[in-house]
Amino acid sequence: MKNISFVIFLITCTIFLAATTFIDKNNFEIDENMPVAEVLEQLGQPAPGHTLNAAVSGASASIGKNIVLNGISAESGQRGRRQSKHFVCTSCHNVEKEDPDLSIHDPQARLEYAQQNDLPFLPGTTLYGTVNRTSWYNGDYDKKYHAEKIKPAQTDLREAIQLCATDCAQGRKLKDWELESVLMYLWEIQLKMDDLKLSNAELQDIEKGINEGAEQAALADLVRSKYSAASPATFTDQPDDLKQGYDMKGNADNGKLVYDHSCKHCHENGRYSMFVLDDEKMTFRFMKRNFTKYTRYSTYHVTAYGMVTNGKRPYMPNYPLERLSHQQLEDLRAYFVESSK
Ligand code: HEC
Ligand code: HEC
Repeated sequence: MKNISFVIFLITCTIFLAATTFIDKNNFEIDENMPVAEVLEQLGQPAPGHTLNAAVSGASASIGKNIVLNGISAESGQRGRRQSKHFVCTSCHNVEKEDPDLSIHDPQARLEYAQQNDLPFLPGTTLYGTVNRTSWYNGDYDKKYHAEKIKPAQTDLREAIQLCATDCAQGRKLKDWELESVLMYLWEIQLKMDDLKLSNAELQDIEKGINEGAEQAALADLVRSKYSAASPATFTDQPDDLKQGYDMKGNADNGKLVYDHSCKHCHENGRYSMFVLDDEKMTFRFMKRNFTKYTRYSTYHVTAYGMVTNGKRPYMPNYPLERLSHQQLEDLRAYFVESSK
């Protein structure tokens, strides 16, 4: 008798479980905080190579966050080894969304977004959503790093992080558990469905596709069309004639935004550089005078080429056109001229 009621109990459980699985499967609903990667997975897309590796022990997202924000590989508040003497990852990268429309790379839209959201405007791409990308160090970064170093970093996020740790941050290579910790943190700051600004009709189509198992490849393409899977980079030369510049009329107000959100992020109070930039008239006059001179202090020169990185010392990364336009550079020049009066 006991046995029979147990069997009945088991059968009831099985039916109940099957029913709930069935309901779950057919009622997939997207909410705004849902990771984009999860929706793509539901649409039958393969998981990326940088999916977390559970076999690495001692890793945690909070350690990863401390490495990225503070350069220290330990839980926050604890003592730990520094990754670099010169920089932290956020010297050059934001960790928040920095483009109003994630499918467009427009430096002016990004600058205005930085002003509205009180974010720095930096030469490196934001790490927010970097796990959602499929290639790294794109475009002209080929010219900056050795082929044997950059090739693996272009298709593998773990390699991309290591390249940046040693060559961008001028620090040491991360140990396996540190690398996995950084990756865990980067997965925390992955794109969420709300970032994509899909219309209600599009969201309904996607839910329907998941629940009915139809048109999944096309719907995955729709999701991916709302953000950029790679951050393009076009390097520029300084103008042929520095006095003439890029031959555009500058807007000093916009130049102030570049100065405050970009240059001062690293140069104010000597944060990452001995070369201090502030709001003194003397500084503006110095920057104005040198803008058009063939010296190491020319803004045309240093933004186009950055500084040569010979050895373990701080250097200035160059700005690709997608990160600082010629117009914005002329705006900065106009701001220095205006502020020198
Ligand atoms: C001195 C500046 C600097 C520092 C410090 C720095 N990076 Fe970078 N990083 C860059 C630049 C420039 C690129 C080139 C590609 C881009 O971001 O647009 C880059 C690229 C990357 C990429 C690939 C992004 C892409 O979409 O191409 C990742 C990931 C990355 N860095 C992670 C890190 C991490 C993690 C740290 C800290 C350990 C770090 N970076 C420190 C400047 C820096
Ligand atoms: C990611 C950080 C960073 C940003 C952003 C940045 N710089 Fe730099 N810059 C540096 C570092 C580091 C150096 C190296 C100076 C040193 O040795 O201390 C440097 C060097 C320079 C130099 C040459 C100084 C010298 O001693 O040769 C100039 C000029 C300069 N920066 C101007 C600017 C201007 C203008 C902007 C804004 C458009 C800017 N920087 C944005 C980090 C930065």
